[in-house]
Amino acid sequence: MVNQVLSEIEVEGYTSISRARVDLRELNVFVGANGAGKSNFVGVLELVGRIVDQELGFHVGVNGGASALLDRVLTTGRIRVGLAGGRNAYEAVLVPAANDELIFEREVVSYQGEGLDQPFTQGLGSGHRESRLAALAEQGGPVSYVLGLLRGCRVFHFHDTSRDAPVKQLSPIADNLGLRGDAGNLAAVLLAMRDSPDAAARSAYRRVGAVVRQVAPFFRDFVLVPDHDHVLLRWRQTDSDVVFSANQLSDGTLRFICLATLLLQPTLPGLVVLDEPELGLHPYAIVQLAGLLRQASTRAQVLLATQSVTLMNQFGVDDLVIVERRGGSSVFTRPDPADLAAWLDEYSLGELWEKNILGGRPGPAGSGPRA
Ligand SMILES: Nc1ncnc2c1ncn2[C@@H]1O[C@H](COP(=O)(O)OP(=O)(O)OP(=O)(O)O)[C@@H](O)[C@H]1O
Ligand SMILES: [Mg+2]
Repeated sequence: MVNQVLSEIEVEGYTSISRARVDLRELNVFVGANGAGKSNFVGVLELVGRIVDQELGFHVGVNGGASALLDRVLTTGRIRVGLAGGRNAYEAVLVPAANDELIFEREVVSYQGEGLDQPFTQGLGSGHRESRLAALAEQGGPVSYVLGLLRGCRVFHFHDTSRDAPVKQLSPIADNLGLRGDAGNLAAVLLAMRDSPDAAARSAYRRVGAVVRQVAPFFRDFVLVPDHDHVLLRWRQTDSDVVFSANQLSDGTLRFICLATLLLQPTLPGLVVLDEPELGLHPYAIVQLAGLLRQASTRAQVLLATQSVTLMNQFGVDDLVIVERRGGSSVFTRPDPADLAAWLDEYSLGELWEKNILGGRPGPAGSGPRA
């Protein structure tokens, strides 16, 4: 794998996640009942991305303020997020402040030197509203490494296919360095791939068209015509030369185009995070999507939450993280492949999930002790 790798994430006090520790692999497939806490875990990774981008205040505001993000059941009054990758680690402890804001009680990076008992730790201060990582990264060393590690953590939401969806608007051509979280620059990214001097990028563009045609055989190709500094997503069908707008793509086709472009683009973020990417896709498209996810996981880390038995069937037991609600709190566990070996001889992973052998199915509210 080319990118830096996140090996572990710890969360405390974030919405339904009282205390959790999840080891991250190349491919991480979160499954669980409605309300189990899958999207809350994705929310933690979104929070990390916002911290790195110095947009914590904005993120807390649009999500309903600190009180909506703090665990209301455990009420410890603080959110702790810890991430580790290689010899480096990052920890942020956020506490509520006036105006329902969150501020840093602690922000620390650490580096475990070879042969040393204790890691070297560097505190970045206390009481600040936005992360000090970027400001201190110029010094180099662990802070700049940690910044690179966390910067790679990107959450993508392609659910919005309404008339006002960002993916259907004009996109500045220069905004083509990587697909945005809402695919608002999809046309610019595809145009850059199509016209790239790099043969690998041009080939990736052709692959996007090819996989979209597998799922939507009526699709001929994209029509990407720059208009001054902007470009709009348009396309043609196999049976005519009429140029259609993105509005004339079906919702599922548009989402699949976003997913294919994200997963095939030449440079991937270090950790690609997707919540229910199967939304609105035909089972055949879900199988194609699983192939793209698996391929992408050889170039970057991939983390997804899903409710789809079809999607789950495409992955191995080692990829799964089971999310359950115990006593109102989300619990994350990796199933033991040895325990399931006999079952897997006869049943697929999705069948085991449906039979409730893996766990992750709805149980009585409040069952079990809160973790
Ligand atoms: N501030 C909070 N404190 C405690 N629990 C919370 C808080 N905010 C949300 N929750 C719990 O988290 C649940 C939602 O979890 P989440 O959205 O992660 O579910 P999910 O696993 O993604 O489910 P689905 O499959 O339906 O998308 C809510 O039902 C609520 O019980
Ligand atoms: Mg969800």
